[in-house]
Order: sequence, then C-alpha cells, then structure tokens
Amino acid sequence: MTDQMMGTLTPVLTDNWGDERSWTLAAYTDQGGYAALGKALAMQPGDIITAVKDSGLRGRGGAGFPTGLKWGFIPQDNPKPKYLVVNADESEPGTCKDIPLMLASPHTLIEGVIISSFAIRANHAFIYIRGEVLHVIRRLQAAVAEAYAAGHLGTNIHGTGYDLDLVIHAGAGAYICGEETALLDSLEGRRGQPRLRPPFPAVAGLYASPTVINNVESIASVPSIIDHGAGWFSAMGTERSKGYGIFSLSGHVRNPGQFEAPLGITLRELIDLAGGMRHDRELKFWTPGGSSTPLLTAEHLDVPLDFESVGATARIQPGQPGYWPGAETAVPPKSMLGTRALQLFDDTTCVVRATLRWTEFYKHESCGKCTPCREGSWWLVQTLANLEAGRGSEADLDVLLDQCDNILGRSFCALGDGATSPVTSSIEFFRDEYLAHLEHGGCPFDPAASTLWAEPVGVEA
Ligand SMILES: Cc1cc2nc3c(=O)[nH]c(=O)nc-3n(C[C@H](O)[C@H](O)[C@H](O)COP(=O)(O)O)c2cc1C
Ligand code: SF4
Repeated sequence: MTDQMMGTLTPVLTDNWGDERSWTLAAYTDQGGYAALGKALAMQPGDIITAVKDSGLRGRGGAGFPTGLKWGFIPQDNPKPKYLVVNADESEPGTCKDIPLMLASPHTLIEGVIISSFAIRANHAFIYIRGEVLHVIRRLQAAVAEAYAAGHLGTNIHGTGYDLDLVIHAGAGAYICGEETALLDSLEGRRGQPRLRPPFPAVAGLYASPTVINNVESIASVPSIIDHGAGWFSAMGTERSKGYGIFSLSGHVRNPGQFEAPLGITLRELIDLAGGMRHDRELKFWTPGGSSTPLLTAEHLDVPLDFESVGATARIQPGQPGYWPGAETAVPPKSMLGTRALQLFDDTTCVVRATLRWTEFYKHESCGKCTPCREGSWWLVQTLANLEAGRGSEADLDVLLDQCDNILGRSFCALGDGATSPVTSSIEFFRDEYLAHLEHGGCPFDPAASTLWAEPVGVEA
C-alpha cells in the first residue's frame, strides 16, 4: 500500500491481522495486548463508562446507538445479576467484519469483553456466535482457555477481587437470531423470535436480568479507547459519528476485503483503496450497510459514510437519470449506514434479479411471528419473480410498493422493514429496468456479458 493509502486507513482492530499466529495470546500480548485491561481494572467501573461515553463510540451492529449511554441504562441498584452478551451472529447479507476479527484476533474481543463486563459490574458474559462458523468458534474457545490460564478470566482476576466467566454459545444459524431480543430467547434455549419491548434488555434481558447486548466490533473497540483515551478516539470520524470502523467491500471491486478507516470516508475513496472496479466497469448500485439498507447509486459516491450523511442522502430528484414522476414521494426517502457492508454491483448486473435474490432471503429468514412480514415477504417474492420473468404489467410496480407499505413500520421487528429496502430503492432508481423486463418478456441482460461469475472474486484476468 502507498503512503497516501495508509494515511486514509486507520488500522486499529485490523492492525495485527497479518501477524504470525495473530490469534494466540503470545502474539497479542507482544503487540501490547491486555495492557488496557490492566489500566481498566485500576479504574472505577463508572469512570470506564464515562470514558466510553466521552469517546462517542456508537454501536457497530447497525443501529448506531451510543454504547456508553446503553451501559449507563443498567440499573446498578437492581440486586439481580448483570450480563454482557456479545452479538456475534453476523448474518446481514454482505457483512463480513466480526467473523474475520474473531478469526484473526479473538483476544481483542475477549479483552473488550472483560473491560466492558467490569464496567457494568457483570460477572457472566456470553459471546453468541453463529453455529456455521465452526473454525471461528474453535478459535474463540481456544483463546478463552488461554485467557483463563493467564488469569484474565475466572475468579479474583489479577488479585482485584473481580470475577468473570465467559461462555461461547453457538447458535443454530438464523438471521433473526442477530436481532437482540430473539438472540436472548435463543440463548435461553428457546426458539429465536423477537420479544415485545418494553421492557428493554437493560432492565429485563437475559433470564429477566439487566443485560447489555453489543456487537463484536463495538466491544472490540473498547480496549483501544481505554488504552489511548476517549479524546484519541473522538478525534477521528465526523462530528456525530466518531472513531474508526471496518468497511467490508465485496462484489465487483478488484480487491474486496475489510478496510478500517475513520467514519466519514467516501465510497469513492474506498474503491480507490480496493484497486478500482473490476474490469474498469461502471458502478451501477451498492448497499451502504447490507441489503437491509436502501440501495444507492454512482450519484452517491461522495456521500460521507457516517450515520448522519447516509441517513440524510438525497433521493432521486427531477432531472436525475432514471427519474420518474412521483418517485420522490413513492418511496421512503432515506438510506442508512448500517453495518458498513458495501456490496458493489457493476453495470452488467440485473438489479431486478439481485432484488429478487435478496427478497428470497428475507422470505426464508422471516421468523413467522407477525403477519406483515411472514405473508408480505412471501407476496413480494411472488410479484418480483413474475416481473423478473417478464410477466405482469407496469401496475405490478405499484402493487410491489403497496406490499412494502404494508410491511414497513407495521412489522414486529426490523427484519420486516429491512426486507422492503432493496425493493423500494431498486424501483426508485431503476424503474426503467423493471419495465424493460416486461417489454423484453424476461431479463434483458445477457448472462454471458455479466462479470458476476466471470472468475473467482479478487482475481482478474
Ligand atoms: C434481523 C436483524 C438481524 C440483526 N443481526 C445482527 C447481527 O448479526 N449482529 C449485530 O451485532 N447486530 C444485529 N442486529 C442488531 C441488534 O438487534 C442490535 O441492535 C445490536 O446487536 C446492538 O449492538 P450495538 O449497539 O453494539 O450495535 C440485527 C437486527 C435485526 C433486526
Ligand atoms: S418482522 Fe418478520 S422476523 Fe420480525 S417478528 Fe415479524 S415475522 Fe418475525
């Protein structure tokens, strides 16, 4: 990488990923690992919460809720045990940061778990990880065993009188089990379905006790904040989106992967860092944070990737390519930063096909608890599949938008809302392409011209 690239990137969580046996305690300690734990154990728990609040760290699991504020909600006068649960389900399509982090540097997460548990005065912590990633589960388990043996976990940690047990719990692999309350049900041994709120987990979470649930990357960011200070962290990023984050680039870029950079970097800069688009083709559409976040286009290459800017993205306006009368009011107006899962699609990709594929995923993963999502996602697939095959009429686009309107804001949890994002945003920006399927009697794209399957990802002829 060039100096200019290194200036743009801020490797903190990813800094040791290339080290020899980076996942071992020895390699992590050589790098200064567990120094932050020593500092934290000498602090008052409340001061750690204040430091995390002052850093401006916002949840890295998608919603961006301030982490220190969440910890402050744990009622310390409640006599019940307190729990920390790490959400390591990572199943949003396109999201690929937590699994590589746990694979390359499990001790970064474990150190974060110990400091965070100490801050909220929890003596039990859980990492809920998806069951399919057996190699990552094994690596985490081995790292936890190392941490116990080194006295970082267990009773009377380093003579401080503080006790902490950490359990790695493997889920069975369901997208809905990433939703925090469904995750708690699953962790308690029940079928994973979202719970009614309130009460919120901070008051009645795991086993009806006060519980903090945070994403892997949120908790893994805590040691660096304690080590370098809240001011160091908040000096990076933008005014209200502080610090650095891992941006996962996938799809039609030359070098897909994880790029750790301050929040506010643009997709244009990230594509440069990833060596450009494959075959020098044009970017057609992209997801800022997985498929649950409305699609954006090449018009949005310079939008700062922070919570506010992506959330305020101006949608299609009169005079813009693809504009159709009524577009600005027919669809929800904003996108979201989400998990920074940037999936890039070039101009050989059929957006209708991609949207159908994502919608099949939501239909499959709908937990069935509420009618708008259970039935609505099924209807979305029927309508989209017909349109993709060139069957139906222009009026079916209004039917699709109406189906989305009956799901968005009317579902029990955010999975239903997310299912509408690719549909509404693809119609917004690519209405003509839907119509072209009807005129053509099927997909007008030549599969032979598609770069999608041209060669393995990351390799270019
Ligand atoms: C369907 C669905 C799936 C989710 N999957 C994940 C996930 O895999 N990992 C995650 O951290 N958060 C996921 N979330 C968000 C969590 O509910 C929760 O907001 C997050 O774990 C809180 O952590 P944070 O404050 O550190 O971001 C999901 C939400 C929904 C609605
Ligand atoms: S929105 Fe979907 S996933 Fe969420 S509770 Fe309803 S059916 Fe289940």
